[in-house]
Amino acid sequence: MKNFLSVKDAGNIDTLIRCAVDFRKNPGAKHTLGKGKRIGLLFLNPSMRTRLSTQIAAQNLGMEAIVFNVSQDGWSLEFEEGAIMNGATVEHVKDAAPILARYFNILGIRTFPSLKNREEDYNEYVLNSFVKYCNIPVVSLESATVHPLQSLTDMITISDHLPLKDKTKPKVVLTWAPHVKPLPQCVANSFCEWITAWGASDFIITHPEGYDLDDRFTSGTTITNDQAQALRDADFVYVKNWSSYKEYGKITGNANDWMLTRGKLATTNHAKIMHCLPVRRNVELSDEVLDSTHSIVTQQAANRVWAAQAVLAEILNNKDA
Ligand code: CP
Repeated sequence: MKNFLSVKDAGNIDTLIRCAVDFRKNPGAKHTLGKGKRIGLLFLNPSMRTRLSTQIAAQNLGMEAIVFNVSQDGWSLEFEEGAIMNGATVEHVKDAAPILARYFNILGIRTFPSLKNREEDYNEYVLNSFVKYCNIPVVSLESATVHPLQSLTDMITISDHLPLKDKTKPKVVLTWAPHVKPLPQCVANSFCEWITAWGASDFIITHPEGYDLDDRFTSGTTITNDQAQALRDADFVYVKNWSSYKEYGKITGNANDWMLTRGKLATTNHAKIMHCLPVRRNVELSDEVLDSTHSIVTQQAANRVWAAQAVLAEILNNKDA
């Protein structure tokens, strides 16, 4: 593995899951693999789980992790080729990235989409600029369109509960949930491409009209606007808000009745409830669901460490790191 930017870099997903589960059993199994190496964790946006779990994962591999909150502590970065930098930006990524490559062996980057310019966001303008100019392995800590460390975590968490009795494949539902502000499509996009590539489930997406995801992520998947129908017999329900892809970055309707409640779970197969977190209680998911035995969101977040450790170990095993 050179970079970890999307499911395309994952190789065999079952192998990665097994690696992560092995680290969970024995976190220090490869405590010298990253000896003398350093990872820079660049945050252009806020984070709790990704920041902390990746630091712990790096430390478990004997690697030093340095966090740089670019948006708070760094110079304002320019990404446009040929820009005349007489405005607010102070340093071009062309100058910053090669320097970061001298300081670090691996670079992790979190950069959210603008939700204003769909073409730029979906071309991963910011992340790809770092990849282009830094020439060391890059790990996505959530980018404009995907969140691969979260998705690997999600596959690990589902596999923790398999096999199910009387079923060869679990029914996994991704349901849209209301939110108070427009959110990226990244987690939903990423979950779709990972669960499809993994191929271990019967997968269905449900959302209100107007919230279709980019079909590059959903092609071949059953999609319905009927949430009740989608939830029937579900074994896992992944709850997530996203803003409109078509009317890019907009909330096209409040659809508050899409919040997942205990009542809606009655027709499921005692479904396990997942969410990447942070979650808006009683907006996206009700207290009664989050505080019930249905919820596996804490287990899911705990698995972030092992997902990150499996990915970093794969990169360190590559002689380029
Ligand atoms: N799920 C997730 O990425 O959490 P953070 O934004 O807190 O890192």
